[in-house]
Amino acid sequence: MENIIEITNLTKIYKNKIKALENINLTINKGEKVTIFGPNGAGKTTLIKTIGMFIIPDRGKIKIKGYDTQKEEKKIKKMITISTANERSFYYRLSLEENLKFFGMLNNITGKELKKKVEKGLKEMGLYENRKIKYMEASTGMKRRLNLARALIKEAEIYLLDEPTNGVDIETKIKIYEIMEELSQKGKTIILASHEVSEIEKTDRIIVLKKGKVVADKKTEEILKKTTKENEERLLELIK
Ligand SMILES: Nc1ncnc2c1ncn2[C@@H]1O[C@H](COP(=O)(O)OP(=O)(O)O)[C@@H](O)[C@H]1O
Ligand SMILES: [Mg+2]
Repeated sequence: MENIIEITNLTKIYKNKIKALENINLTINKGEKVTIFGPNGAGKTTLIKTIGMFIIPDRGKIKIKGYDTQKEEKKIKKMITISTANERSFYYRLSLEENLKFFGMLNNITGKELKKKVEKGLKEMGLYENRKIKYMEASTGMKRRLNLARALIKEAEIYLLDEPTNGVDIETKIKIYEIMEELSQKGKTIILASHEVSEIEKTDRIIVLKKGKVVADKKTEEILKKTTKENEERLLELIK
């Protein structure tokens, strides 16, 4: 199998001295569907954002398809797309539709294709009816869904999804899982950060983070048992 992400000795210490990631070593193969699992504060978002090149590590290295994230950012940008809970990166006075259009254009999507993709994204995320609402007037759930629509409008090889189903309704949740499955069928690599036990089964591999360290790295089938209760117990055992 071809490895697409290679992380070596990755450490991130925030200004307040919190060690969010400590000496992480991981290899992720092309086409893998991975959950980064762990409780709040485990370092999931920091890891996703470091892979996504929003955070510069203090030590260590990430290579994506052989390119170094700290040296060849431009080359890597095209290969990845990221959805995080960051709300500050949208235009507050623009509508949901206009925001999506704008970010589509930033990814060099234009004309009819842009129109089609924006419409598809809004519909998929259940935002079409509310597309004219200004971002600042949208609900939290709408903002979250728009964030995901923005990540998905870009054609990439690696999809970094930080708790994409957090705060969305059940219908959207199911849609998100469907989209993940479609992407996976196309051979895309998916990295999902989650603390929801029920979400684990949507991916093939679980990397468990605890206080910035990898404490387990397993195939999903090794972890999952028949009942949700048993699964929960097993997962909780890992982060104890
Ligand atoms: N910008 C920041 N400045 C300082 N500390 C941070 C910052 N972001 C996260 N942290 C801290 O780093 C740790 C890991 O956070 P995070 O990566 O958000 O974890 P998770 O996504 O698993 O909840 C936590 O202790 C958190 O408080
Ligand atoms: Mg997080």
